[in-house]
Amino acid sequence: MKTNEEKNVQLEDKRESVTFGSDRNKDFSKEPMCLSGRGVTRVFHTGKTTTVAVDHVDFDFHKGELISIVGESGSGKTTLSKMLLGLLEPTEGEIFFKDKPRDISSGAKKKEYWQGIQAIFQDPFSSYNVFHKIDSVLLDCINMRGGKNLPKEKKYEMMAEACSFVNLKFAELTNKYPFELSGGQMQRLMIARIFLLKPDILLADEPTSMIDACSRATILDMLLNLRNETGMTVIFITHDIGLAYYISDSVYIMEHGKFVESGKPDEVMLHPKAAYTKRLISDVPKIHEPWDLSTVEFH
Ligand SMILES: Nc1ncnc2c1ncn2[C@@H]1O[C@H](COP(=O)(O)OP(=O)(O)OP(=O)(O)O)[C@@H](O)[C@H]1O
Ligand SMILES: [Mg+2]
Repeated sequence: MKTNEEKNVQLEDKRESVTFGSDRNKDFSKEPMCLSGRGVTRVFHTGKTTTVAVDHVDFDFHKGELISIVGESGSGKTTLSKMLLGLLEPTEGEIFFKDKPRDISSGAKKKEYWQGIQAIFQDPFSSYNVFHKIDSVLLDCINMRGGKNLPKEKKYEMMAEACSFVNLKFAELTNKYPFELSGGQMQRLMIARIFLLKPDILLADEPTSMIDACSRATILDMLLNLRNETGMTVIFITHDIGLAYYISDSVYIMEHGKFVESGKPDEVMLHPKAAYTKRLISDVPKIHEPWDLSTVEFH
């Protein structure tokens, strides 16, 4: 049995070996504020049941920071994501975008806000219009960024560049529909869209849940490269506290709609205070340990 101290050393070693992590000592609190919230709450009423899905959360996300929000199923992660994206209104509290109260009260203001924040969802199949071919999916992104009047050749060059950033060959995709791609290719196409849209904030809700471990590492690598290249803020939503430890600048641990703990990964994961964080962590190092077969009976 390993002591907690030994487990921590194991976690730290693992983190050091991850090449795509950011500069873990960078102090993001000195960077401009990108998105913040005070007392953000969402209550759902269905029949006689009232669910407080997100319960008075406070957060400060800075420019270029990679933030993970970690919690078990039903803890409120997707509800919070939808509020951050402006797809769902908080029932209480306020969200600030670049230090000003966020205003998405009209269609035009919403559109402007969505120039600044974009998302990659759990299910890539739901993210595309199935009747639009891939080149028009990418072309839309160029148009949205004000490139409508660029010469056709320039647009093709930009689309090809975005595809090659995610290791897709544009020439092989032009005439295809999104449903003709594999799950992994579809995820990569989503990242190619983000490459073209260059939002200030990218919100990724379990973006790697549909794909195998090998493609997962590639996708994460691409997301982190994108962050390093463009300086965008990335909000990463996950069940996986181990993954969050390796890739994040800050983590927020969510339980029953509340942030029970937040801070730098080394603080939160190596010196957890909340019982919930301790429980999430206690499950992680086991996967790196050899299986103990001594207690197994063979027949
Ligand atoms: N539209 C809705 N109406 C009523 N209740 C809802 C609605 N959306 C979410 N909830 C409830 O809010 C709580 C939080 O759900 P949410 O989808 O935000 O969790 P999650 O952390 O994203 O879970 P998962 O990891 O499974 O995706 C759950 O109890 C859920 O049943
Ligand atoms: Mg969810």
